Amino acid sequence: MAAKILSQYRRQIGEFETVDFVDEAHISTLRAQLDVGVPLDLHWTWEYGSEVEELRNLYERGKKGQWNAETDVDWDTPFERDEWFMPRVGALLLPSLLTEAGADEATCREAAWDEFAHLISQLLHGEQAAMQLCGQLTNACPTMDAKFYAGSQVIDEVRHTEVLGKFLQRKMGTLYPIDPTLKVLLDMLLAAPTWKIKTLGMQCLFEGMAVGIFDQIGRATTNPLLRDIIRRVQLDESRHAAFGILSMRQVVKESSREEIEEMEDFAYSILETLNANQQLDMLRIIGPKYGLDPESVVHMMLGMPEWPMINSEVFMHTVVPNLRRLGLITERTEPHWRRVGMIYGEPVVVQ
Ligand SMILES: [Fe+2]
Ligand SMILES: [Fe+2]
Repeated sequence: MAAKILSQYRRQIGEFETVDFVDEAHISTLRAQLDVGVPLDLHWTWEYGSEVEELRNLYERGKKGQWNAETDVDWDTPFERDEWFMPRVGALLLPSLLTEAGADEATCREAAWDEFAHLISQLLHGEQAAMQLCGQLTNACPTMDAKFYAGSQVIDEVRHTEVLGKFLQRKMGTLYPIDPTLKVLLDMLLAAPTWKIKTLGMQCLFEGMAVGIFDQIGRATTNPLLRDIIRRVQLDESRHAAFGILSMRQVVKESSREEIEEMEDFAYSILETLNANQQLDMLRIIGPKYGLDPESVVHMMLGMPEWPMINSEVFMHTVVPNLRRLGLITERTEPHWRRVGMIYGEPVVVQ
């Protein structure tokens, strides 16, 4: 396998290799880097008739599923700082830890608020990346069906960027800057040289992760406004993940063994890096406010017997099953996924 991403920030915590971004100057540079050089081959096609029926059906479903983030969402629904919007324990990391440590309810609620604002901020930055990347796909994809679909996904991602941005601005009053690990990974996808790698990275990996995270939030939240926003976004995201699978199925079919192994390794290296961060980027910003030392928190989490089960949940939700179906997690790579807690339990299904 190729060299690990962000190898300069790799550090062992016990048996586990983390990515811990500790260079403040580098973090500032990454966030300030607004212009990214992107090699992009624009592709014309003169085939205007439908070629891939499943893709065209997905495009039709997308047209019917449009909604308006300003007028279809009831923005008068309260989302208050002094009310719980998630269970105190089990849904978010910081309030769970603080409850265990005996902190009072107000402190736990404040920590939940901070952690959630950070999480939604990262999802918002991810939505902007998806919007940019789908614009690229509209140019670069070879078939008209893929161009139609990618074009329609651009407006979906615009709407997600709008709705999460408005939620943070109107209801939470906070926007956290992008986490450095996420910025590095998103820049890699945006700057990837081929539409195949862009599609794999954004449509399968990040869309798949987003579906898993939105599902967890949607199931946990007790707030009607948040539940409604998540439900709307989720409906769109599941179409996007389906687009990724449909496109990638074709790509895999037309690729050599060597190319498939390259894609398999790429998928692992991107998600392994995200997993290796273990929320350290978040903990470094918010942890100290609550007297939590980031390294001790991660050390403690990694030591829990149920850690692989909890940690793998978001990966096992959508990304892992989809990659397996595509043949991009095989017996060759599966042990790596298991070793770092991204796959847990049920044995591999090779199709
Ligand atoms: Fe989105
Ligand atoms: Fe999406």
